[in-house]
Amino acid sequence: MKKSEIILTKYSPLMAVDTKLVGSDSKPTETPRVYSLCRCGESKFKPLCDGSHAQAEFVGEREDSEKPALEYYEGKEITIVYDRYLCMGAGYCGELEAVFGTHDTPKYEPDEAPAAEIIATINKCPSGALSYILNGKLEKDYFQETRIVVEKDGPLHCQGVIELKDDQSSETLLPNADHYTLCRCGESKKKPLCDGSHEKNGFRG
Ligand code: FES
Repeated sequence: MKKSEIILTKYSPLMAVDTKLVGSDSKPTETPRVYSLCRCGESKFKPLCDGSHAQAEFVGEREDSEKPALEYYEGKEITIVYDRYLCMGAGYCGELEAVFGTHDTPKYEPDEAPAAEIIATINKCPSGALSYILNGKLEKDYFQETRIVVEKDGPLHCQGVIELKDDQSSETLLPNADHYTLCRCGESKKKPLCDGSHEKNGFRG
């Protein structure tokens, strides 16, 4: 099977290679083998690029260059693993407030709910920021199918094994990520990842 990848360039769109695209209407979108996805937020043909990034003078840089270490919160049965670097603040974890707290006051208390409830909540996390260790095994692979799903007015959900690469480097940028969310609005401070800014800036597309 061909390897799916997304290639980043600093001033340009995301180039997807051999990767299925599912539109915001949940239908697969016909694409060529290689296609460009808008990440400046200005294309008139979203999710595809129409070249507007040049006029918009788009620069796709992440503002914080340091990659924080993974955080481990160990409980009696389950350990919650949190990757701050990937988090887009979607807030599904807040549905289990006893364990994860709220958006403004997050916490990680793995003994405050049954493990099954914590797992169900972690499985909803779209950014891949949350995973868990159960019976000594890190569980982080949730998607059977490799694809990019376009969220209406939101990010690209990259699911399955999609290598994210910078065109200036041969290294995979997120070597262990099973899923992650990429910014489409152009205003994330965590580019190329989504940081939830689209919720506040009125992005439509
Ligand atoms: S799509 Fe840009 S921050 Fe989420």
